Amino acid sequence: MRNKIVAGNWKMNLNYEEAIQLGTNLNAWIADNQPTAEVIIAPSFIYLQTLLEAVDEQYLKIASQDISAHAKGAYTGDVSAEQLDSIGLDFAIVGHSERRDYQGESDTIIAEKLKQAFKHQINPIFCVGEKLEEREAGDHFSVVKTQVLNALTYQDKEDLSRLIIAYEPVWAIGTGKTATPEQAQEIHAFIRKVLNDEFGVEVANNTSILYGGSVNAANADEIFSQPDIDGGLVGGASLKYDDFVQIIAACK
Ligand code: PGA
Repeated sequence: MRNKIVAGNWKMNLNYEEAIQLGTNLNAWIADNQPTAEVIIAPSFIYLQTLLEAVDEQYLKIASQDISAHAKGAYTGDVSAEQLDSIGLDFAIVGHSERRDYQGESDTIIAEKLKQAFKHQINPIFCVGEKLEEREAGDHFSVVKTQVLNALTYQDKEDLSRLIIAYEPVWAIGTGKTATPEQAQEIHAFIRKVLNDEFGVEVANNTSILYGGSVNAANADEIFSQPDIDGGLVGGASLKYDDFVQIIAACK
């Protein structure tokens, strides 16, 4: 379903008390304000189960920040899709650029992770986006197309109904530099065209494509008003309650 979605990627931030506090405060705000957008938060693995129990999933959904590429076994430190599914988790961020960069995740690994997510009915928020030098060289369209095709061609077509894509230009993440609404719209429309050409009109029309990279309370409105932008994946600003609720409210 092509829904409006605002997802907060908490990354490696917040201690236990802070995480539960922010999660329960957001849940209460959503219950009171009934925003248009579906709201998802992605805390660290250790808080997932407590947060799943502390919030009401009709208001606030919980995602993991990663998922193992493997089904089970001797993969120390990994958490499998089956394990996540067994605690009732329905969403996972997959292929974030920080994992591509720091953990060396390739498109092949990301394709395996998506496969695991789909197998256990977890809706992946699949991240793509070019680096600064790739944009400067004018390669951003081909880089993003390759990331999309390398990960998705390998999937069963019917699983793509669960797919959420986040376009996050790496040069805009945590830098305060946001893509202009026009730059973001241009590439979101391009991603939708790639989906249409490769996987059909239904996948293109049903996939929410979120923008990520320095979204904040001041710029959210303009970014979210673009026709092919269905919401945002928000890092830094999702840790601040007042800012994040303004961003959620801006996603109409
Ligand atoms: P940022 O992070 O909003 O802090 O730029 C976005 C992300 O990495 O998902």
